[in-house]
Amino acid sequence: MISNLSLVKNIKQILLCNDKPVPFLKGQAMSILPELKDAYIIIEDDCIHSFGPNNNIPDLHYDKIIDADHGFVFPSFVDSHTHLVFAAWRETEFMDRINGLSYEQISQRGGGILNSAKKIAEIDEDELFDISLKKLNKVINHGTGAIEIKSGYGLNTESEIKMLKVIQRLKKVSPITIKSTFLGAHSFPLEYRNNQDGYVNLVVNEMLPEIAKQNLADYCDVFCERNFFSVEQSKTILLAAQKLGMQSRIHTNQFTHSGGIALAAEINAISVDHLEELNDSEIDQLQNSKIIPCLLPGAAFFMNCSFPPALKMLDKNLGFSIASDFNPGTCPIWNMNTIFQLSVIKMRLNTQQALAGLTVNGAYALGIEDQQGSIFPNALANLIITKQISSLDYIPYAVNDDCIAKIIIKGLEIKR
Ligand code: NIG
Ligand code: FE
Repeated sequence: MISNLSLVKNIKQILLCNDKPVPFLKGQAMSILPELKDAYIIIEDDCIHSFGPNNNIPDLHYDKIIDADHGFVFPSFVDSHTHLVFAAWRETEFMDRINGLSYEQISQRGGGILNSAKKIAEIDEDELFDISLKKLNKVINHGTGAIEIKSGYGLNTESEIKMLKVIQRLKKVSPITIKSTFLGAHSFPLEYRNNQDGYVNLVVNEMLPEIAKQNLADYCDVFCERNFFSVEQSKTILLAAQKLGMQSRIHTNQFTHSGGIALAAEINAISVDHLEELNDSEIDQLQNSKIIPCLLPGAAFFMNCSFPPALKMLDKNLGFSIASDFNPGTCPIWNMNTIFQLSVIKMRLNTQQALAGLTVNGAYALGIEDQQGSIFPNALANLIITKQISSLDYIPYAVNDDCIAKIIIKGLEIKR
């Protein structure tokens, strides 16, 4: 079969390029990204073919020339934690919080996640798919090249499966890689408030087997937090999911030291996500494990709470991914460029550290590092080409600007 070659020329600088996948970056390595100045990239069909210096472009027949016009080029963002499928926004309870109610208080009175669950019960699958596809296209148009999407606004078997089927349909139509996560243990439905074991049983004995049978989830997640799921309840659910082939992710330490990190170490979870509250002994636990911490600065910003101690983690030679947590309750921010800016401004990361968390380390969090997250021969050609900007630091600095000039997904330029 004849392949199609595209040449991306006049690149000011490529970031995160290597002859093989860039390794998971931690500690000081998060500041030193492999790079090449004054460069070209050749794309063969949907993959990176090669890259090199501008003055040495191979004399081949190119079907398409893409002029980077002296912009920077880096891998598309990998958003390793989102709740992109939901039926309605929740600005009313946002105002309740602004007026002084806490997230837990809103949840106690049946709002929050339970509010989203009511809306999921009412909407039909086709409509949920349509509105979710619109959201997905918007994130793709702003640089996301791979994404994880969770269920968790169903909270009964029918609605959880509705959400997971929508994610499965998104996988089929979307040009970007999507990983799906079952999050039935997101909140106890009202009718199970006084029968928590009953709900855990429902998740373990009804939801999980059906989801596994229909092959609807790559991962299982739980919200391990005070007033949500205890360590024991989380463990029961995550181990049952592991038996069915779904590896574990854990929402933990968003509001309290909830014990989710020790649990993650015990059961070999892939990631622990949030970590707004993180103490020294929890950092030690992370250091002695292979768990990938995932930081969600958009949620900390929107909830007006403390940010994960990212610099301290780097000092202790930890690495982390950075994701959006896009959801209607705690983070309506879907744009990874905004998350980039918040990572720098609020977590005090430098531009390189933030970019590493948003790309290559996110790819490791989703197990797709051999295809995405860095630029190497045979990687998917998922690229962001910036406008002509004075330096890479201009991106987090220019908070109102969209610095992206072109987005390439699987070798094709996305119309923006
Ligand atoms: O990651 N913390 C739990 N889950 C989501 C928020 C869910 C919601 O409020 O809708 C989060 O922040
Ligand atoms: Fe989340």
